[in-house]
Amino acid sequence: MKLNEQRLELLRTYGQEHLIKFWDELNEKQQCNLQRQIEEIDFTLLQRLIDQRDRKVKSGTGVDRAKLAQSPTQLVRLPQNDAERVERENAKRAGLELLKTGKVGAILVAGGQGSRLGFDHPKGMYPIGPVSQRTLFQILSEQLLARSQQARVAIPYFVMTSEETHLPTTIFFREHDYFGLGEENVYFFQQASLPAIDGSSSAILLSEKGRISTSPDGHGGTLQALQKHGMFEVMKERGVEHLFYHQVDNPTAIVCDPVLLGLHEKYESDFTTKVVAKARPEEKMGVLVSIDCNTEVIEYSELSSEDAYRKDAAGNDVFWAGNTATHVFRRSFVERLLTEDFSLPFHIAHKKIAHVDSEGTLIEPESPNGNKFEQFIFDALPHTKVALVVEGDRDREFNPVKNAEGSDSPETSRAAMQRIASEWIQFAGGNVEDGVKVEISPLYALDDIDLKSRQIEGQSFSEDSILNM
Ligand code: UD1
Repeated sequence: MKLNEQRLELLRTYGQEHLIKFWDELNEKQQCNLQRQIEEIDFTLLQRLIDQRDRKVKSGTGVDRAKLAQSPTQLVRLPQNDAERVERENAKRAGLELLKTGKVGAILVAGGQGSRLGFDHPKGMYPIGPVSQRTLFQILSEQLLARSQQARVAIPYFVMTSEETHLPTTIFFREHDYFGLGEENVYFFQQASLPAIDGSSSAILLSEKGRISTSPDGHGGTLQALQKHGMFEVMKERGVEHLFYHQVDNPTAIVCDPVLLGLHEKYESDFTTKVVAKARPEEKMGVLVSIDCNTEVIEYSELSSEDAYRKDAAGNDVFWAGNTATHVFRRSFVERLLTEDFSLPFHIAHKKIAHVDSEGTLIEPESPNGNKFEQFIFDALPHTKVALVVEGDRDREFNPVKNAEGSDSPETSRAAMQRIASEWIQFAGGNVEDGVKVEISPLYALDDIDLKSRQIEGQSFSEDSILNM
């Protein structure tokens, strides 16, 4: 088989002919796959990104947004007094009403490579339940199912996958009967991938002799992927007007949180985001800030150690508002962005990328050797008419699984789930004996008040148990 002449010309024009150096060594299937990968490359975009990288290297890091930033101004903090507690209660009621109208859908972003966790499957398949070993996918899906039952309406789940995670994720959901959500309520849509390039030239890297090294285009790719796969039509048909967005790595995120939805509606926000106070200034979280009256996120990789400690005139930390990556978007806002021939900016990551060299030898680099390009969903924030930042309770809501050990690891996340379960049981009048693990399925109770209605008062748990339906 021969590579299509037009593509060959493109490879020559963009100096990427090395991609077919091993063509004659490949079998027909490998040639066919490589040809498909080459056809999918948007060379114009890639060249633009390479130019962007080179300009940055020449001119330094560009505008230092951190220097211009203040703490977020469009902000609802955790309640400190009765009036603020009443505002939250009212928001919760309004959020539940909004859910009942069927105008809310949920988006789960599950296209990441999860390389820090060192788990060889999509991260959502990671067993995290402290007693049951329920996976992240199951816990999050059961939360959504419980919320659907509470609202008496099916809430559609839009699950974003990537080239790498698509097949195993769809199979996993099917094998688990969509965790009770109903196949008709779960929509998988795959984000795009971009080639990885060599860090000191413009050469696209090969991961094998017949395979281009690619990576997903970041969670900002959600917007284009929703459009490409016809998800907005589905949303319109189902009457979905607001989208509750969350990440696959946090089992204690409150899926379709009525409080967040209620505040989003009350403030007529286009993009509402949940923050928690950072544990320490240098914690690896993006931070919500205000720059020239716009709400924006500064990613942890962009914040110097010096800036991270900056205080405002009143002596408070400027960069306290950690991004939990839990957002609510108005569908019309996202659609407006997409009709404006809009593109989120690309961020350039310097990574260790295994690749085959010009001799065909596999190289496993020990330091960053290449670039990946990613868009971030929160870069849509400055384009909103109204954006809102809402503070949540860190201990309750932010216990992600990111690293194999240490902070934000399975161990810390499981410990948090147990702590939360014990607190709810105590609130409901029960008791968990020391050293005993109790896990509460979202289908049994979504929160402490829900658990109280299960009448477990006086019950003492002396052995590991699962409260399940
Ligand atoms: C992310 C946020 C950070 C925030 C933190 C909270 C970014 C750049 N930073 O950091 O501001 O404080 O979460 O936990 O996001 N994903 C895709 N496709 C992709 C890339 C990622 O679906 O192409 C998904 C992942 O599956 C995961 C989520 O996005 O659900 C987060 O990705 P990750 O790269 O792990 O973000 P963090 O560095 O942890």
